[in-house]
Amino acid sequence: MPVRPPVLDPPFRIVRASHIELGVRDLARSRAFYVDCLGLLATNETADALYLRGVEERNHHSIVLRKARGPAATALGFKLASEDDLDRAAAWFGARNLPVSFPEVPYQGRTLRTADALGMPLELYFKMDQAPSMLQRYAAHQGARIQRIDHLNCFTPDVQASYDFYADLGFRLTEYTETEDTPAKLWAVWMHRKGNVHDLAFTNGLGPRLHHFGVWTAGALDILHICDVMATSGWLANMERGPGRHGISNAFFLYVRDPDGHRIELFTSDYLTVDPDLEPIRWTLRDPQRQTLWGHPAPKSWFDEGTEFAGVPLREPALAAQPIVAR
Ligand SMILES: [Fe+2]
Repeated sequence: MPVRPPVLDPPFRIVRASHIELGVRDLARSRAFYVDCLGLLATNETADALYLRGVEERNHHSIVLRKARGPAATALGFKLASEDDLDRAAAWFGARNLPVSFPEVPYQGRTLRTADALGMPLELYFKMDQAPSMLQRYAAHQGARIQRIDHLNCFTPDVQASYDFYADLGFRLTEYTETEDTPAKLWAVWMHRKGNVHDLAFTNGLGPRLHHFGVWTAGALDILHICDVMATSGWLANMERGPGRHGISNAFFLYVRDPDGHRIELFTSDYLTVDPDLEPIRWTLRDPQRQTLWGHPAPKSWFDEGTEFAGVPLREPALAAQPIVAR
């Protein structure tokens, strides 16, 4: 059985996808993109890092851009429900011979650095420094008026293995894509902790790699507006796919690439998934409405390109099946 019932009493409680840390080559150029164009707020800037958040976020950061020689993803961050959960998490990863360390991380309380079974770097914590809410400081909202981080989406060489790992940690499946083989094989999964379609998604591909991270906007008009802004402010070539509406998740979306090629999805309008008996929705790989409800296929770059995790070796994907690709 590739898909199984949810684990409703996990070994420790993850609340949600919380932040991402990326290596970038030119912080000033990244600032021009993320702050001046997209409208994220800079909570803090140092000589080697830029800490960003959306307008409703009280956590100090949801995106950390750190100066590096080349693009890389260095941490996928998840917030836990308590300090006790953090201790339980450390014991759980340690018992499986996965890395366990507690480095000092700026603006965060005790932080567990570890990795999943495929090597993806994880950062688990309970407490983060807080910043004043900017939600109703409307005059300070710019660009796409991004509200918050929503999800992390990764390529994995083994979707079944990634699904099994996070299902054990209480991530619940909302939608999935299968091949039409007999028996069918998992091609992609969308899994959540916080009660919408996903905190974490996986797609079959050379990996593990970060495919994109998703940020939430208040409405589709914010996404249409940022298309006009990017098209007229020197960022036209950074628009990769969309705007459109996904079949999977029902979300309205736009995919853009930052100056280092990291992919960001502007995302809104998915749905509530808190019911414990919610049945996941199955899609087939060749369904033209899976990628985009309106039938438009994704470009080849969307299936091929992603951000490598620093120091994590890549593996060829287990499945050779190919989705529908735009010419
Ligand atoms: Fe996404």
